[in-house]
Amino acid sequence: MSDTNTNPYRPGAGHSPPYLAGREEEVKKFAGFLEQDDITTNVILTGLRGVGKTVLMDDRFKSQAQEKGWVWVGSDFSESSFLNEQNLCTRLLTDLSVFSSSLSLSSTTTGRLGFDTGAPTEHALTFDFLATYLLAQPGLMVDKLKASLDLVWQTANKRGIRGIVFAYDEAQVVADQKDKNEYPLALLLETFQSLQRKGMRYLLLLTGLPTLFPKLVESRTYAERMFSVQEIGRLSPMASRDAIRIPLQDYSWQFSDSAVETIVRVSDGYPYFIQFICREAFDYTIVNPDSPSIPIEPIVRKLDSNFFAGRWETLTDRQRDLLYCIAQLPHADEEFTIGEIVEASKSNPRGVKPFSPNDVSQILPRLIERGLVFKNRYSKYSFAVPLFSRFIMRRFTLTQKALFD
Ligand SMILES: Nc1ncnc2c1ncn2[C@@H]1O[C@H](COP(=O)(O)OP(=O)(O)OP(=O)(O)O)[C@@H](O)[C@H]1O
Ligand SMILES: [Mg+2]
Repeated sequence: MSDTNTNPYRPGAGHSPPYLAGREEEVKKFAGFLEQDDITTNVILTGLRGVGKTVLMDDRFKSQAQEKGWVWVGSDFSESSFLNEQNLCTRLLTDLSVFSSSLSLSSTTTGRLGFDTGAPTEHALTFDFLATYLLAQPGLMVDKLKASLDLVWQTANKRGIRGIVFAYDEAQVVADQKDKNEYPLALLLETFQSLQRKGMRYLLLLTGLPTLFPKLVESRTYAERMFSVQEIGRLSPMASRDAIRIPLQDYSWQFSDSAVETIVRVSDGYPYFIQFICREAFDYTIVNPDSPSIPIEPIVRKLDSNFFAGRWETLTDRQRDLLYCIAQLPHADEEFTIGEIVEASKSNPRGVKPFSPNDVSQILPRLIERGLVFKNRYSKYSFAVPLFSRFIMRRFTLTQKALFD
């Protein structure tokens, strides 16, 4: 039996949950892509903030790949790696070298490759080796990267590995910058496509917000054919119950059925919210073991201030009004258009001054920059944060109450 005071729930970014519920379909599908002999399909894992992309990749996809004989390399794309092609190459080689350092080439091979370090015998494919090799290759950065990955593949293949997965989280931050003549995204796509066509089993797995796929297609139209997009969202009610209950199965007490149903309803199946509400409900129950219910309202208020408020506080009044108009739409949590926002604002909800299409077109990009909204492939817009409309409505009810109290 577990220590009944230890809270097992883990709300956080990339924190492994005590029990990863659901996602069987996605795991099965990913396992299928690992069976490819010729890699024609790469994978994009996408979804809103907090739906569980990172943990699905780290806790499930990775072990699947490793069990099937694939080497797993990667990390997340940080600010500096998306700025230019050189940085992106450095990122890829840094991650690859964690594995490739255990491989080595004889100096006869390196000599034949036109790359002689002058040193005798064996060369381990360390980061330093790969970085020097890359720079010594002729052509553009894309040619240099291809040649370096080709060298690693030829060596790794002799070791009998099945393939190499390059898994990158937060991939939506990589962007081509025309004005600076830097095309890191195009470089990434072109390199993998070219190596795959030559029969090398490098598989690209990119994880990120729903803006990721349109961005790739914008960079290279063939990206449309290169990737299978797996979009994950809320958990089913059954999987949500598992996520709530299973972590407590070895404890001396469990949440009541009604508490479980409240958590399923309020979280709406979104994994981060499940972890958050469960953690708070657990702490409450430890202190109030005889309470028949959980105090859901204060928990939701705490969730608002922890998860949403930071994003909300930095907005201007006009931006908030616009979000309020969006939240009025019956399908606010799906997608919406500029025209619909303009229409909603005409009915003056809460005395909001109506927005013209031009106003909306100017404000939406600011909200996109702040990671609150994104534009999908069909030029419609969606909230990037789950259950955002409910939060907006709560926020305004609260402000109104404060005004009249
Ligand atoms: N299938 C699941 N079952 C239970 N809990 C989950 C599940 N998936 C994710 N979680 C929990 O939800 C939270 C968010 O997960 P994660 O950080 O992987 O989301 P994300 O989609 O990567 O978010 P972001 O877009 O912010 O990077 C974590 O606390 C994690 O433990
Ligand atoms: Mg993540």
